[in-house]
Amino acid sequence: MTRIVEIAKHADWQDLALAELAVGKCVALPTETVYGLAADATNGLAVARIFEMKGRPRFNPLICHVGSLAMADHHGEFDATALKLAEAFWPGPLTLVVPKRKGSDIHELATAGLGTVGLRCPQGPAGQLIAAFGKPLAAPSANRSGKLSPTTAQHVAEAFANTDLLILDGGPCPVGLESTIVKPSPDGISLLRPGLITSEELESATGLPVAIVTKGDAVEAPGMLASHYAPRAALVLNARRWPADAAVLTFGNPPNDAPPAAHVLNLSANGDLREAAANLYGHLKQLDATGITVIHVAPVPLDGIGAAINDRLARAAAPRDPAS
Ligand code: TXA
Ligand code: MG
Repeated sequence: MTRIVEIAKHADWQDLALAELAVGKCVALPTETVYGLAADATNGLAVARIFEMKGRPRFNPLICHVGSLAMADHHGEFDATALKLAEAFWPGPLTLVVPKRKGSDIHELATAGLGTVGLRCPQGPAGQLIAAFGKPLAAPSANRSGKLSPTTAQHVAEAFANTDLLILDGGPCPVGLESTIVKPSPDGISLLRPGLITSEELESATGLPVAIVTKGDAVEAPGMLASHYAPRAALVLNARRWPADAAVLTFGNPPNDAPPAAHVLNLSANGDLREAAANLYGHLKQLDATGITVIHVAPVPLDGIGAAINDRLARAAAPRDPAS
């Protein structure tokens, strides 16, 4: 059975979580982006449990979460660009893919045998927990592989019903989309996954150009594989028309000539893209739960975090891998 512990109401939440982590068990925890399924990144068996619980392909490396830049520096090699980015955006929703330091005891399974490691220092209780644990926590999003990421403790409990799992409940995640992933180098930054922190912000923090790694390029972040973050229903993107019995996800003020629909949820009635990002996965799950087979999604602008919203929608709409 899952056990939900509200952080605000249980003074001993940290001890409860540390006890699980110490024996190699997974703990679901809130971060500013989405809930993570965390385990001791240095313990191979613990990391293997994450892959097993998620049904995640083993070639897909996990993000390792740290409590500070000092902890990150033990495990990854930070060049001047990586350092600038960490100083500008940590703790926060940015993952840095850097060379793994010789002597780092992060388990090979967490990095999928790559010579690099994805490091992120999260805000809030996750950061405190890692600092108390004293070791990095490997934590992918706390959902079954290929499904929508969880933005509430209830989403996690639904995904792992009948599983022995401690879920720390910190309320809804304020960002709602996974972290921006970048690979820094001395003369530029590769953007592997868009998120709240945009190319423009990365450029102005470093003075370096950002190259968007598109699907045609070598897959640096396997999370970039086509179908990902998918609801059960199929998605129709940039929809302006739909049948009367449709389920529709809108954004902003619907145009006057928008047809009515059976189920309508608005990502943000006043057109706020950050609010839309925070609502995206929860709204998709709610529409999915109506049992409809198609979700129509109205156009969402591409500015700011809109790029990341459209990225996740495109993946959710991509043809499904029957195994995922
Ligand atoms: O916001 C987030 O990043 C959330 C929260 C829980 O922190 N985590 C998350 O983790 O989205 P996950 O495992 O679902 O996505 C990790 C992505 C994957 O696409 C993976 O391929 C990529 O990060 N990644 C991790 N380590 C990497 C590495 N060494 N090189 C390239 N990509 C890496
Ligand atoms: Mg994920």
